[in-house]
Amino acid sequence: MKFWELVRNNKLLFTVVVLLEILFAVGSATSSYIIQFAYNQLVKNLLTGFLLFIISSILLSFFAAVLASVATYLFSRISQNGIHQIRHRLVQRYYHYKAPKVAEMENELNSNLQLVTRNYADQVLSIMQSCFLLITSISSLLLMNWMLMILALVLSVVTLYIPHLTRSKNSMATKQLSSKNSAYLLVIEDWINGLEELRKYLAFNKLNEIMQKESDNLEKSFVKRQKIISIADFLNGCANSFSQIAILLLAAILFFNHQIAFGVVIAAGNFSSAILSCLLTTTTALTRIQSVRGINQQLTELQHVKKEQANANSESICSINICNLGYSFKNGETISYPDITIKKGEKVLLCGDSGVGKSTLFKLILGKLQPTEGKIIFKDKEGQVISPNYAQIGYIPQDGTLFPTSIINNITMFNDKLRRLVKTTVKENELEKDLAGMPDGVETEIDLDVNNFSGGQKQKIILARNEVHDFPIIMADEATSAIDAQSSYQILKHLVSSDKTVIVIAHNLNPATEKLFDRKIYLTNKR
Ligand SMILES: Nc1ncnc2c1ncn2[C@@H]1O[C@H](COP(=O)(O)OP(=O)(O)O)[C@@H](O)[C@H]1O
Ligand SMILES: [Mg+2]
Repeated sequence: MKFWELVRNNKLLFTVVVLLEILFAVGSATSSYIIQFAYNQLVKNLLTGFLLFIISSILLSFFAAVLASVATYLFSRISQNGIHQIRHRLVQRYYHYKAPKVAEMENELNSNLQLVTRNYADQVLSIMQSCFLLITSISSLLLMNWMLMILALVLSVVTLYIPHLTRSKNSMATKQLSSKNSAYLLVIEDWINGLEELRKYLAFNKLNEIMQKESDNLEKSFVKRQKIISIADFLNGCANSFSQIAILLLAAILFFNHQIAFGVVIAAGNFSSAILSCLLTTTTALTRIQSVRGINQQLTELQHVKKEQANANSESICSINICNLGYSFKNGETISYPDITIKKGEKVLLCGDSGVGKSTLFKLILGKLQPTEGKIIFKDKEGQVISPNYAQIGYIPQDGTLFPTSIINNITMFNDKLRRLVKTTVKENELEKDLAGMPDGVETEIDLDVNNFSGGQKQKIILARNEVHDFPIIMADEATSAIDAQSSYQILKHLVSSDKTVIVIAHNLNPATEKLFDRKIYLTNKR
């Protein structure tokens, strides 16, 4: 989040907020200023004059408070609008590029944005409010006595410097807090998902140990950040108390020297406490802003990734060539692949023992993983190397995703133009019988919590989704593993009857089904 972004996106509202804050500052300063007249009247025993000034002062500060509240409300709309835009850009980024794990996204979209709202946006308003108040209060002091004003000015500059002392430590501590929060969310995602299994195998102790460890780390970094903030606040507080006493002392000396009236001592006391509370607010706000500097920078970088160049239409891919391909995982495990060429329109069955690297090969072809050795080359019909548009390659992963909406939406993926194809695709993917048993047919809602669909039904829906979207290349990773042999045969028969390039990973297909393919590639362990 950037200050100028907040201003630029809401120019009119921002101007209104600034005007209200200025009126608030002028109102409060005037209210304090006329206090001196009230006390001067009191010293002269003039009760009516005293009451008149006191009541005017109270009324003015009341109106000022109303204006400040309205400004705070309007500013919260500006900052929420800013957060909304950041969220929107982050989601766009997740959509267009490789998305991080859910826990990391939650950390970015939720915790980090909350940190930024509280420690940046809210603080910007505090600083703005304090600055205007500071200007009007210091000017009022000048109207009363120039020496008071100079002293207030010098003390302000010194106090404002204090947050710089803890700046880098503060920012680092907050960044660490965010990363520990992300780690904690990751553990929740990975372990709580399997809660039922853990319960079944009585593995509470392990769960407890792991959760405790991450929670402990989170707690420690929270406490560390709080410690740094408390030290910074303490330093600010000390500077303020010292300054307040200094201004009052000067006012008293001037009074005894008959340079100012008694009312001015009272008013100067009020102004000095106003000035110092403004300084305290400003320095605290600056400390908070610095604490989220790292996170704010991270958020800005995340929002500014350029979209990749549009690539060749996958229709024009005439061959996929796998050359000296190898992939090493972070844990050191390495997989090597034989050289393979798949031509346009070919129907290939990819087999091999579990763990041999079939799914990994798909991820490499689809650009989800980058080869650590060799390469995958896509060529057009002239034999020219092209970079493919991966979004146009149909991919059915082992654990395809369904969304909590109707079956038909899950097939068309919200593209209403494809609805007319649904009836046929339902038949071709053997879904008809399943739908007959459902009350609303294709309009039946999928409930991810209740899990009202079988594994095979889910696979059929995802196969249908790929079919209606008519990708020229289809890569199916054990896409019929949960479907009975007869239906699998029918579905695959239909799939290979098209002119598409089809690559299917499958286990244990019966010989008749295997015969549907042009060729079978058997991967073996070549580590
Ligand atoms: N993220 C990962 N980190 C480390 N090893 C992995 C990772 N993903 C897969 N593997 C390993 O790579 C090998 C191939 O996995 P995979 O391609 O899923 O096999 P297949 O689909 O043939 O069953 C396996 O031994 C698996 O343990
Ligand atoms: Mg696999």
